[in-house]
Amino acid sequence: LQASNALRPSASVSASEAIELADIDWDNLGFGLQPTDYMYFMKCDQGGTFSKGELKRFGNIELNPSAGVLNYGQGLFEGLKAYRKDDGNILLFRPEENALRMKTGAERMCMPSPSVEQFVEAVKDTVLANKRWIPPQGKGSLYIRPLLMGSGAVLGLAPAPEYTFLIYVSPVGNYFKEGLAPINLIVESELHRATPGGTGGVKTIGNYAAVLKAQSAAKAKGYSDVLYLDCVHKRYLEEVSSCNIFVVKGNVISTPSIKGTILPGITRKSIIDVARSQGFEVEERLVAVDELLEADEVFCTGTAVVVSPVGSITYLGEKKSYGDGVGAVSQQLYTGLTRLQMGLAEDNMNWTVEL
Ligand code: COI
Repeated sequence: LQASNALRPSASVSASEAIELADIDWDNLGFGLQPTDYMYFMKCDQGGTFSKGELKRFGNIELNPSAGVLNYGQGLFEGLKAYRKDDGNILLFRPEENALRMKTGAERMCMPSPSVEQFVEAVKDTVLANKRWIPPQGKGSLYIRPLLMGSGAVLGLAPAPEYTFLIYVSPVGNYFKEGLAPINLIVESELHRATPGGTGGVKTIGNYAAVLKAQSAAKAKGYSDVLYLDCVHKRYLEEVSSCNIFVVKGNVISTPSIKGTILPGITRKSIIDVARSQGFEVEERLVAVDELLEADEVFCTGTAVVVSPVGSITYLGEKKSYGDGVGAVSQQLYTGLTRLQMGLAEDNMNWTVEL
C-alpha cells in the first residue's frame, strides 16, 4: 500500500445508501465546512437552566455586539464524529465524554452547561436531521461541532447573563492536507499554547486563537503544524495546535500527562486503552523534547485528525525523520480505533452509540 492509503480500513457503499445521500463529491472531502440542513439551538435562562432546544435550518445566527463570547471569549466548543455503518445505521463515538468535557470546561469558564442527557440527545437529533450528509463508509465522517457561548450582552467584564448551546455538523475527510500520509511538525520554543493555572486543559475557543500565529508561520515554511513545549521549562512536550501527541519507543508508548495545560482528548484517552489492549505499555508522564530524537515513531491523536503519523519533527533547526511511510504502531492503532468507530470490529469497550 502507498503511505497515503495505508491507514484506510476497507470501505463499502451499498446502492440503497447512495440514494439518500446528499449530492456532493464524497471522494474529495477535506476538513472544510460544508453547510448541511439543520443546526440545533438551545438557550438558557437567567437562572442558568437550559430549556428544550430545537432544530433550525442551518444558517447565520444573530448575536448582540456586546455578547460575552464576542467581547471576552466566553465560549467553548466540542468535536465528535458520526460514522455510517455498512448496514446503513449510524454510530456516534463516546458522545457522553464530550458532554462531560463540556461541563468541566463550562465550570472553568463560568458558564452553565446542558446536562449530559441534553447534550447527547441534542447530538442525536442533529445527526439524524442531517443523515444524508453522513459520508458513505470509508469516505469520511460527519463532524459534529457543539458550541457553548455567552450570548447575553455584557460591557463590564463579567459572565454573560444568557447562554446559547448550538450544534452544527459538516461531512469531513482527512484533517491534514497530507491526507493519511505522515505530517511534518516544527517545535515552537517561544510562543506557548497554555500556562499552568490557565485554560489549556479545557476546550475554550481562545486556546485555538492563541496558536494561529505560530501555526501560520509554520505553514508558511511548509510544515503541517506546530508542536508546543511547556512554558515553564521550555523542555516538555505539550500538544500540537489541534491534537495530542504520542511518542513510541519499542513497546512503550508515552504521552504528556494531563496536568491542566493539555487538552484531555477523547481520542487520546481511547488510544491509550486501545494500545494497552493490544499489549503496549502506555506511560502518561512528562515527555522531554530530547526523547523525540530517540523515538521510533511519533503520532498525533484527535477527533479531527484521528491518528495522524508524524514523518518528521524539526527542533531548533535540526530535523528528525521517522522513515518514509506510516509507522507500524501508528497503523495498528489507527486501524484498531477506526474499526471500532465504524462498527467494523466488536465494540468490547462499549464506546459507540448506534442510531
Ligand atoms: C477536534 O479534533 O475535534 C478539534 O476540536 C480540533 C479542532 C482544531 C479541529
